[in-house]
Amino acid sequence: MQKKGFIFDLDGVIVNTAIYHYLAWKKIADQLEIPFSEIKNEQLKGVSRTDSLKKILSWKNLTVTKEIFNHLLEKKNNDYLHYISKMTENDILPNVVNTLKWLKNNNQQIALGSASKNAKIIIEKIQLTHFFETIIDGNSVTKTKPNPEVFLNAAKYLKLPPEKCIVFEDSVAGIQAANSGGMISIGIGDKKTLSDAHYNFKDFTEIKNEFLLKLINN
Ligand code: BG6
Ligand code: MG
Repeated sequence: MQKKGFIFDLDGVIVNTAIYHYLAWKKIADQLEIPFSEIKNEQLKGVSRTDSLKKILSWKNLTVTKEIFNHLLEKKNNDYLHYISKMTENDILPNVVNTLKWLKNNNQQIALGSASKNAKIIIEKIQLTHFFETIIDGNSVTKTKPNPEVFLNAAKYLKLPPEKCIVFEDSVAGIQAANSGGMISIGIGDKKTLSDAHYNFKDFTEIKNEFLLKLINN
């Protein structure tokens, strides 16, 4: 069997932390009286903390001092950390562990590719660290999604060319990153939102072993 690299995004793919990012940003937006909705939030998925705040401010053409900007980032992250503090392995999304186990048992290579600086904390909390050969996160990249750097770094670590890598992503920016990096992209979530993905699934319960086998052998 061939060896492929399976690169998992974290937020919204392995765990439903996307909702906590949304709730924490919602508080900031409300405080600044910037209209914010779950639809607008799609633009923030996969986007770094700093770029997310820049986008939110741009929706109202707001500029703030560096001090206020940093204070808002800190407030958002503290709220977010509070939301995730009680996470356990029970928060892993359905069929993710089975998929990871199947890939491991079939000698596939597995990496994490997340924009989050909190990725390692979460992966440890939900006790999945042992599945990943490498964790490339928001602390180890200079350019964030939709730039492919995070996934290219993962491929490099796995010693695989991009075309042998498959990326699971729930964000528009992440699908763009995988595609522009020359990888196979799998959209997890709303098919219309993630229409640029090579394959789409609502969640991992729809991903069968036969499909994984097809990806490996292609
Ligand atoms: C991504 C999320 O995984 O990480 C974004 O989809 C988030 O919503 C980004 O902004 C950065 O996360 P953090 O934890 O470093 O603020
Ligand atoms: Mg995500």
